[in-house]
Amino acid sequence: MFKALNMNKVALASRGVALTSNQMFDTLDDIRDDIATRLIQAGKDRRSPMHTPVVGTSDANLRVMVLREFDGEQWGLRFHTDARAPKCTAVREGGAVGVLFYDPGAKTQIRARGNGKALTQGAQVDAAWKQSSNYARRCYLAEGAPGRAADGPTSGLPQWAEGIQPDDAQVAPARENFAILTVELTSLDWLYLAHDGHRRARFRRDGAEWRGGFVIP
Ligand SMILES: Cc1cc2nc3c(=O)[nH]c(=O)nc-3n(C[C@H](O)[C@H](O)[C@H](O)COP(=O)(O)O)c2cc1C
Repeated sequence: MFKALNMNKVALASRGVALTSNQMFDTLDDIRDDIATRLIQAGKDRRSPMHTPVVGTSDANLRVMVLREFDGEQWGLRFHTDARAPKCTAVREGGAVGVLFYDPGAKTQIRARGNGKALTQGAQVDAAWKQSSNYARRCYLAEGAPGRAADGPTSGLPQWAEGIQPDDAQVAPARENFAILTVELTSLDWLYLAHDGHRRARFRRDGAEWRGGFVIP
């Protein structure tokens, strides 16, 4: 059972204010706050090293993805992807997903695991599509699934869409290929590297609560 999140730190992270690395991590509450603030910042700040974590699926495949949002209330991650991509087949509804974050400046690694969902319909998907720029939406116009063999080097985009910023009507057909990958986190492993001794803690979700403990690094 943990106390409420430190809202000062969360507010700073929400505004994209850089987090410092010289913090004290004496309690599990401190560490849980550190994880939440770093993930909130990672979803908002494209310069954050944690903005592009490595996402693993149960087929032993890994790939870099852009973290679009961390929901600190639900402890959920949101990514955007192509519905035809192999990772969506691997995840479907409830597949295990692992996400690895590392910030070398903060000397902090966060290993997160949870239940993934690849969604193409619903309010959350519509909202994510609405927030995307037409430039980002253009990726989903590719003629064929990511990973499909091609005759030569190609972006997969129709020729008319190459090198342009398409308008709303031009990207409308891309919507059917757009998916969000959500991960409801169920366990966290936090590691902080320090000259005078590393620190490590693990957390496991138990209903609405997180239960944690320190472990030997
Ligand atoms: C910096 C970077 C960011 C990326 N961001 C995404 C992303 O947000 N969504 C995505 O589907 N693929 C992203 N990719 C591409 C994936 O790493 C991967 O190559 C692609 O999605 C196909 O993955 P799959 O075959 O496992 O489905 C990114 C790659 C790099 C290098």
